[in-house]
Amino acid sequence: MANIYEKTTTAPVNIAVVKYWGKRDTSLILPTNSSLSVTLSQDQLQSKTTIRVSKDFKATRLWLNGIEETNVENNQRLQACLRATRLLRKEYENSLAISGHVNIPPLSEWNLHICSENNFPTAAGLASSASGFACLVYTLAKLFELPISATDLSRIARQGSGSACRSMFGGFVAWEMGDNTDGSDSQAVQIAPETHWPELEALICVVSDLKKGTSSTEGMQHTVKTSELLQHRISKVVPERMRGIKEAIKTRDFKKFAEITMRDSNQFHAVCVDTFPPIFYMNDVSRAIIRLITEYNNSGDETYKAAYTFDAGPNAVIYAQKENIKEIINLLAHYFPSTLDLNKEYFNDHAGLFSTD
Ligand code: PMV
Repeated sequence: MANIYEKTTTAPVNIAVVKYWGKRDTSLILPTNSSLSVTLSQDQLQSKTTIRVSKDFKATRLWLNGIEETNVENNQRLQACLRATRLLRKEYENSLAISGHVNIPPLSEWNLHICSENNFPTAAGLASSASGFACLVYTLAKLFELPISATDLSRIARQGSGSACRSMFGGFVAWEMGDNTDGSDSQAVQIAPETHWPELEALICVVSDLKKGTSSTEGMQHTVKTSELLQHRISKVVPERMRGIKEAIKTRDFKKFAEITMRDSNQFHAVCVDTFPPIFYMNDVSRAIIRLITEYNNSGDETYKAAYTFDAGPNAVIYAQKENIKEIINLLAHYFPSTLDLNKEYFNDHAGLFSTD
């Protein structure tokens, strides 16, 4: 029997167009509202994780971008994901044993060495925890050979980082908040695959690659405790937006998609400012990008050509249809040239957009 088993997988980043912000249960990570995101191409942003498991390893260890994390035993979110996948592996080992298999390696009992890296700035509001935890859980599932669906895995990834549950699928993904107190119905479902709307593209504008000042965990708990606007958002606004955005995706209605996306980003940041003391994630450059996209949208006919969205950081993601991407790249390259570097490889490969002109 071999002593070391190893698996490597990658997972994509997702960027929400209806944002998750607020937990009703902080240990199970159950949200106060449903959310919906678009999974980016893995050529753009991705996490890559290699996990080894061996009966000879003395401890479970974790390296993030080449640096070893010291407090692995006390990392509750990591431990929740390990516990859940090991339990499933144990059940699987038992079921194999019952059906007469012999020499099944007891991987559920052995220590792990986990190496994870991102091909983009970590913790700068570019959803690194989403792709990171999705990749961790997916790699474990492959290593442990778990016979389990992506939605089942999404409930485990959710316990690492809420938004990670949505990175279990490509395309357009909803995180349905669920009603149950045990989290058994708080999970991700694919609304449509990426092939449903191949004209939709995402541009990533890195305004700053520094680690954000207030983590999303800390920020959303302050918001839940202090913001009155959040209550209005949860009860009155998000349910209607979830219906609207699903309809916009289904019918590939970019105008509707763009309006909901921009309004929801605006309201998420309004809720952050309504937190007491307030949280500011956007900076002057972020706001200048909003003004530029607003001008650009209003300069043409009645349709929108671009939609901005900002997570818990100053960096913008611009959604647009392929036919307008070149114009938008030129516009951003004119006013904010240094923000576009992350897109170069992606668009060079796909459309040669940075090599022309
Ligand atoms: O999953 P977390 O804890 O990193 O929270 C992510 C929150 C936002 O990115 C701001 C919104 C979202 O839905 O992804």
